[in-house]
Amino acid sequence: MTGGTEATRAAGAPGPLAPLAGKVALITGSARGQGEVTARRFVAAGAQVMITDILAGEGAKVAASLGDAAVFQELDVRDETAWAAAVAALRASFGRLDVLVNNAAIHWIRPLLEDNAADLDRLLAVNLRGPFLGIQACVPLMLEGDGGSIINISSIAGVKAFRGHGVYGAAKWALRGMSKVAALELAPRIRVNCILPGAIDSPMLPPGAAERVSAGTPMGRLGRSDEIAEGALYLASAASSYTTGTDLVIDGGSTTGP
Ligand SMILES: NC(=O)c1ccc[n+]([C@@H]2O[C@H](COP(=O)([O-])OP(=O)(O)OC[C@H]3O[C@@H](n4cnc5c(N)ncnc54)[C@H](O)[C@@H]3O)[C@@H](O)[C@H]2O)c1
Repeated sequence: MTGGTEATRAAGAPGPLAPLAGKVALITGSARGQGEVTARRFVAAGAQVMITDILAGEGAKVAASLGDAAVFQELDVRDETAWAAAVAALRASFGRLDVLVNNAAIHWIRPLLEDNAADLDRLLAVNLRGPFLGIQACVPLMLEGDGGSIINISSIAGVKAFRGHGVYGAAKWALRGMSKVAALELAPRIRVNCILPGAIDSPMLPPGAAERVSAGTPMGRLGRSDEIAEGALYLASAASSYTTGTDLVIDGGSTTGP
């Protein structure tokens, strides 16, 4: 495993063109969607990235397309043993970890009275237990190095009520709460922040949602994964060195008002 692309090696120390030079990131759920785009953005910014997902074929392809700047590790975020294996692999491949993006999640839209406890547990296992296990597994390796930045992908459904988002919203509100406690407990060496995307054009978006959501958004369109990746890059890099315990809302203005 070597460090970054020719361009980032030439760039050397972190700077405006390579703000993540010398940094290592683990991104969950990065075989597709926002996680994949964030991984690609981080590599372009000079980082080495561990792509992780339960979609092994897709994840391996994404990592292969990034050359020696990325590796793939199969990681079901619900599985504590798999987290330990991922951290061991990080140690072996890179010897450090600077950025953890807890991005993996599942989603559905269903009225509360039609949902059920088994599905509640299933969603919480991915969307809340996953980031919890990730923080526990990754922080020790971050502390062995220069500290780091943890970015938890919540949602505007974690700050505002949306019909059909009782279970998903509960997990995203909880993730924001856990992030703020982690920010308190892990400062000053590790910063912990959330991103709250609005509706983003990714495989998670339910069919037919695009037109309805676009009409209700001041910006008049869906968000793009690269717009979330830019937020993640900001929170991952030294540009946000005094930012912890906060929520970065990237939603085209949709939570601003009626
Ligand atoms: N797309 C949106 O409109 C939207 C809006 C707000 C928030 N978000 C959040 O953004 C994040 C990224 O979502 P996306 O839009 O890219 O969706 P996506 O469905 O494309 O990506 C989610 C990824 O997580 C992976 N995943 C699912 N279960 C997993 C598990 N147990 N272990 C490991 N990986 C698992 C999937 O395989 C997939 O690659 C999620 O946290 C989501 O809740 C999305």
